[in-house]
Amino acid sequence: MTEFFITTPIYYVNDVPHLGHAYSMINADAFARWHRGIGDEVFFLTGTDEHGQKVADSADAASMSVTEWTDLYAQRFKDAWEKLDIAYDDFIRTTEKRHEVAVRKFLQALYDNGHIYLGTYTGSYCVSCEAYYSANDAVDGLCPVHRRPLIEMEEENYFFRLSAFQDQLVKWYDDDPTAVFPDFRRNEALSFIRGGLEDVSISRTSLSWGIPLPWDERHVCYVWFDALINYLTAIGYDGAGYERFWEHSHHLVGKDIIRFHCVWWPAMCMAAGIAPPQKVLVHGWLLVKGEKMAKSGGNGVDPIDLAGIYGADAVRYYLLREHALGADGDFSIEALEHRYNVDLANNIGNLLSRVTNVVDKSLGGVAPRATGNVLDFAEVKEHVDRASRAWSAFGSAQVLEEVQLLVRMANAALEERAPWKLRDANEIGAILGDALEILRLVAILVSPVLVESAPKIFAAIGLEMSAISSSYSQALEVGLYQGGMTIAKAAPLFPRKGQARAR
Ligand code: ME8
Ligand code: MG
Repeated sequence: MTEFFITTPIYYVNDVPHLGHAYSMINADAFARWHRGIGDEVFFLTGTDEHGQKVADSADAASMSVTEWTDLYAQRFKDAWEKLDIAYDDFIRTTEKRHEVAVRKFLQALYDNGHIYLGTYTGSYCVSCEAYYSANDAVDGLCPVHRRPLIEMEEENYFFRLSAFQDQLVKWYDDDPTAVFPDFRRNEALSFIRGGLEDVSISRTSLSWGIPLPWDERHVCYVWFDALINYLTAIGYDGAGYERFWEHSHHLVGKDIIRFHCVWWPAMCMAAGIAPPQKVLVHGWLLVKGEKMAKSGGNGVDPIDLAGIYGADAVRYYLLREHALGADGDFSIEALEHRYNVDLANNIGNLLSRVTNVVDKSLGGVAPRATGNVLDFAEVKEHVDRASRAWSAFGSAQVLEEVQLLVRMANAALEERAPWKLRDANEIGAILGDALEILRLVAILVSPVLVESAPKIFAAIGLEMSAISSSYSQALEVGLYQGGMTIAKAAPLFPRKGQARAR
């Protein structure tokens, strides 16, 4: 048992959440659930990023006060996460007092340690990115990400001496080759660092919506500098939570914000005199017809709608099964329906209804125990072990592949031996007992993903999922299904879905 601290980005509340944000949440939630399952002490943090120009502009455009606006939109994020069964431990809003306190303390430490100086910023800014761009970054004078006009700025700003941390950052990457996952993202960040770092502006005077700098209240903190510190605010910067969780920190982020998390943030930590995060996990983008799904792109899919049609489990399953951490991937309703019908309805759902049906009809409803006389339990164990290892290595897509292989083993044995045609109870029991064991193992392995269905599978085979909470490692030993209980024919878990509906 150990601690496991997992975070998601805190999202800008300039608009409602879309499926891209949900993708980060579902990944983080699944990892958190797996770690709770193996008995770790988990702290799963998410929240909203509420300062900065973009949020202030959105409130303005709606003729609302920023506070009214942020209250309304922070709630939209919470509503979406509830619909998707996201079980976070803390939801931080950067407008909370606890955050202001932590940010001021952190900034003061940087200032006192001599890593901040006053200078003049001249250059461009993209409000959608909330990021500064040099002339080299701009494409035809437009933001390289949003293709929107950049704002020319000249302001007296405080700067963070990021350039001074180049060597220390390279050393950090060298000392811990797994600090950034996956590898190709690590190399991307490292080559950016090796290319040379410029100091970064960390304050604004042309904006008042933000946290004032402790040593100069005319300036508010640049939104990214305040946002990153949320990871410390939430565990109690300097307190017992920090002592306990910081060395187990895992920041899950999209590739759009890799520089902030893989360059700035570790350097900021070093400058404050604390260790850099333990791990940054970088995922790719959900695309729609090849374009990034984005608030500003008008192609956002509403996660609440989707969960309403297909159920949270199906959305969670599809995203984790089809989009391994790292690469970009296209979202489509057709692919979601296909996964649902093939993996959930035909494979897992069918196995459960066939097995429980034959137990009911041929064995008087009394579940037989697993013997390993029909299925090769050594092979089963290999799949289970690979799946467990994949969970711990952030490979949810691989976990779900292993799960499908297990289900296929059981379904193939059923087809081959057709227990519904047999008469000998021992023979029938041997087949069904092993199939029931597969269902038991599968339910445990998918429980971080199919959070509503996994306990139903357990219940349908006469077990209680809460009885194994935090003891997954023991429960995943192969051959534990004892049988003896009375079970009934299970109601279909995943009724087939028709043609992709027009959205
Ligand atoms: O960047 N595919 O907030 P943000 C996958 N406030 N993930 C996506 C996505 C897509 N198409 N679109 C968004 C910010 N995301 C800052 C973060 S953290 C200290 C501050 C996810 O509202 C992904 O995790 O722009 C991405 O990194 C994040 O949303 C950006 O959310
Ligand atoms: Mg963004």
